[in-house]
Amino acid sequence: MRKIQDANLENKKVLLRVDFNVALENGKVKEKFKIEACKETVRFLLEKNCKVALISHLGRPSFAKATAGKPKGFDESLSLLQLKDDAENILGKKIKFISDCIGEERMSSLENLADGEIILLENVRFYAGDENNEAEFSKKLSAGFDIFVNDAFSASHRDHASVSGVAKLIPSFAGLRLQKEIEEMEKIKNDFAHPAVAIIGGAKIETKLPVIKFFEEKYDNILVGGKIANEALDQKKEFSEKVILPFDFIDDRLDIGSKTLEKFKEIISRAKTIVWNGPTGKFEDEKYAVSSNEILKTVLDSGAYTVVGGGETLEILEKNNATDKIDFVSTGGGAMLDYLGGGEMPGILCLKD
Ligand code: 3PG
Repeated sequence: MRKIQDANLENKKVLLRVDFNVALENGKVKEKFKIEACKETVRFLLEKNCKVALISHLGRPSFAKATAGKPKGFDESLSLLQLKDDAENILGKKIKFISDCIGEERMSSLENLADGEIILLENVRFYAGDENNEAEFSKKLSAGFDIFVNDAFSASHRDHASVSGVAKLIPSFAGLRLQKEIEEMEKIKNDFAHPAVAIIGGAKIETKLPVIKFFEEKYDNILVGGKIANEALDQKKEFSEKVILPFDFIDDRLDIGSKTLEKFKEIISRAKTIVWNGPTGKFEDEKYAVSSNEILKTVLDSGAYTVVGGGETLEILEKNNATDKIDFVSTGGGAMLDYLGGGEMPGILCLKD
């Protein structure tokens, strides 16, 4: 894979794909972690005197109503302008916001940036050409830039213009965060200690079957909770005996019951490797967050090498002030599952020779 450490970066104009798709509350960033994730790469590029423009998506615009003078999918509630101040604080850099992703203004602003200043472009999903990966749109996005850097592991399972499209048009490299994420994913895939335990929760069983299958082949136990467990039971999905589905519940299956929780805890406490993606109950309601919180405590006490991923799982960590206590916290939710359960991801594949 082509890495930024191997690129000739001096004084280059760099389009840097980050993932600022974060939860917001009253226009304030609720999860800082995903923004922090690109800090090292930004610093690295600035040390090489690069002119950096950050590009990201936020949410999934509906394209339902057009606003004059704005890209078709524009929606104020999904504008990256809301993140500017928080991103400045988190990255410790002055940011100039450009309400566009294409066009001349971004390049002239790039030329005139003060030392240490960077650019943040508007939500790239306001343009249909991003998700559709239109060649013409990729051309407009990359025009004027010397180099493209992908640092957004969590978006690298998307075959979009701002992830894989532009990478085919200008020299492209993996940022430091992307490299670290891949290194950690490879570790839990191929180089881990037994007993190895995967905890998989959340929703949409169909999207999680490939990853459960992957863990069934390699890990000692797969503990399944949350909505997917209910779906698997309802659909009478069949697994090997390594996979443990809940056998008692709280209320209308909104959390796993105490007997299942005890069984899960017993297995987790003996583990040497733990991978966790997805809550085991409807954790946003305190009453049903019991198993997720208890599991977190057991994970921390186990001393196992632990990797956690997925937006909701990160919320559990943040609520319990445990983010710093986990060996590796992945920015990837869907991307982590795709990496483990599937083939090569478009955003990574395009960085390989
Ligand atoms: C995520 O939050 O998992 C990534 O930003 C990908 O977002 P998407 O599922 O809307 O593509």
